[in-house]
Amino acid sequence: MPNERHPTKYLGEEYQRLVSENLNWELKELQTANEPFCTVDGRQVTMLCANNYLNLATHPKVVDAMIEATKKFGAGAGSDRSISGNMTLHEELDRRLAAFKRAPASLTYQTGFMANEGLVPQLCGRGDLFVSDELNHGSIIDGVRLTHADRAIFKHKNVEDLTRVMDEAEKHKPPYRHIWILTDGVFSMDGDLAPLPEIAKIAEEHGAGVYVDDAHGEGVLGEGGRGIVSHFSLNRDQVQVEMGTFSKAFGVIGGHITGNEDLRNFAYNKSRSWLLSGGVPPGVAAACVAAIEVLETEPEHVKKVWENRNYFLKAMQELGFDTGNSETPIVPVMCGESRTAKKLADFIWQKSIFALPIVFPMVARDKARIRVQLCTKHTQEHLDTAVEAFKEGGKKLGLI
Ligand SMILES: Cc1ncc(COP(=O)(O)O)c(C=O)c1O
Repeated sequence: MPNERHPTKYLGEEYQRLVSENLNWELKELQTANEPFCTVDGRQVTMLCANNYLNLATHPKVVDAMIEATKKFGAGAGSDRSISGNMTLHEELDRRLAAFKRAPASLTYQTGFMANEGLVPQLCGRGDLFVSDELNHGSIIDGVRLTHADRAIFKHKNVEDLTRVMDEAEKHKPPYRHIWILTDGVFSMDGDLAPLPEIAKIAEEHGAGVYVDDAHGEGVLGEGGRGIVSHFSLNRDQVQVEMGTFSKAFGVIGGHITGNEDLRNFAYNKSRSWLLSGGVPPGVAAACVAAIEVLETEPEHVKKVWENRNYFLKAMQELGFDTGNSETPIVPVMCGESRTAKKLADFIWQKSIFALPIVFPMVARDKARIRVQLCTKHTQEHLDTAVEAFKEGGKKLGLI
């Protein structure tokens, strides 16, 4: 055995490299519930970087459902759903989600990441093709990487480029057996929307499937927060897989897919992440059901998050900030260089505003930004304080 070999030395070296290149994550500690005003690292801050768009993480009905189900059914499912852990609550959640989505069937997973990483690799293999938006989420990218299928990338949201890729794909010999177009619904770094009707039309022309990851659209887009398929009034023959998560607007945790019965049956028989990992605790399933019920019965939450988003966006644009292509409660405050984004984030943090800088390599070198995420329970005072901090920082850094 060569002397230089060491089991773990490179872990420290790699970490030090990340630190020296300023690419390491510095974890902040949330010391209260994830509310619009909360305590982070001992500082009371206005929270502007939570996925908890509708503040359902602390909604009394959601919390009570979790407690009651936990008391009745225990802390864990006791097994993978594929073995002995498929509880009535899991089945109820699958059914309630499908009903909410007005679709034939849904299947819930432990997380959204596991839904993508479990299902995507089963859809295509050798002789098939994945066609992916260049800015798709990492869980889709990892799912594609697990396959032997061919891959093609189209430029972000660019329908012409997608057409070109699909026409090119038709020249392949032998013809591809299956083609899936994969796209985020709401792109999490920019808050912009996929041109789903155009994508669905192109897919139909080629007999391809459409798989949309609507993690950031659910609870926000569409009728009563039903998501991107509802937003564009599409149907399940046009978008065959609508994937989502309970960890964002629903305020809990868990992933899911929605489509027809064949999709559900295929997905739970084939997704290794579903088959080979524990089912979510009953309390989680019950809380997700309660979150769906809240969306069905309290439409004011969705209305309010949009009001807050529009208020903040208008105020920032009036100040002269570049807010990118935001079409949702994700609002990027464009800063250019990574250094500037980090300085602005530090500045607003000192003013007790918590929002994260998103820098290279997560986005292009000249597209660093602060990503702001609005939620239902932000008050006008929270938003005004945030805008004021951005104004001071933006002036200091020459952004406005
Ligand atoms: C677009 C997108 N897809 C999937 C996921 C994964 O969701 P989950 O948190 O449920 O694993 C995320 C979360 O960051 C996301 O932003």
